[in-house]
Amino acid sequence: MEPWTLIRYKTIDSTNTALKEMSYAPHGTMVCSEVQTGGRGRLGRTFVSQEGGLYLSLLLKRQEPLDRLLHLTPMVAVAVRRAITDLYPLQVDIKWINDLQVCGKKVCGILTEVAPQGGVIIGIGINCTTAAFPPELQTIAGSLGEFCDTVDREQLLHRLIVRLKELDTALFPEKKQWLQEYKNACITLKKEVLVISPTGQEEAFAEDLGENGEIIVRFPDGTRKSISMGEVSLRPIQERK
Ligand code: BTN
Repeated sequence: MEPWTLIRYKTIDSTNTALKEMSYAPHGTMVCSEVQTGGRGRLGRTFVSQEGGLYLSLLLKRQEPLDRLLHLTPMVAVAVRRAITDLYPLQVDIKWINDLQVCGKKVCGILTEVAPQGGVIIGIGINCTTAAFPPELQTIAGSLGEFCDTVDREQLLHRLIVRLKELDTALFPEKKQWLQEYKNACITLKKEVLVISPTGQEEAFAEDLGENGEIIVRFPDGTRKSISMGEVSLRPIQERK
């Protein structure tokens, strides 16, 4: 198996975009930057990517068709959570589908995209020691450094790569165990949520996870819906403003 390669930048627009543009990049190519000027989040949002963060994208050129990789995104959340908790004594929660939170503050976001050269690109943004967030994010975002003594970005990067390699091996053989770990850490479950889609928003109860990490919600009329990443976003009812 080819060794994985890490390409490093101080500043780049987006590590995901850079990796998309590397048409011949092999499996295991990673792009990392200290700052992103055009960091991208889910649902077309911006991902604020200031100094003090760790911004990493990884290309996995898997042979399986995309519809067999639906569980990849939740498994990435488990890998990142493991990397953080390997190094820091923190309780890291998962907010479906792929935000990692500490004490209710988002410390990490994950964006998986289809790679034009085949396979998938996994983009991970971790706020390590980010000092100040823009006013609109101050109550929502946090950095690991707020919750533990010292955060060594370099050490976290290396630990993250170890856990991502483990994920690549475990993707099918250990799917069940990893998704159980996801479920145990997922704070969205068993709560009233607001299901927000382009056509409107509805209150529902987040009942369970499906076999690929999709969330199953129950509406007040008793009907159930299985929601996959990308279709909608969920918000706990108490967060509503
Ligand atoms: C989200 O929270 O909506 C997902 C955020 C994903 C951010 C990461 S940072 C590395 C990679 N490059 C990007 O432009 N986005 C992802």
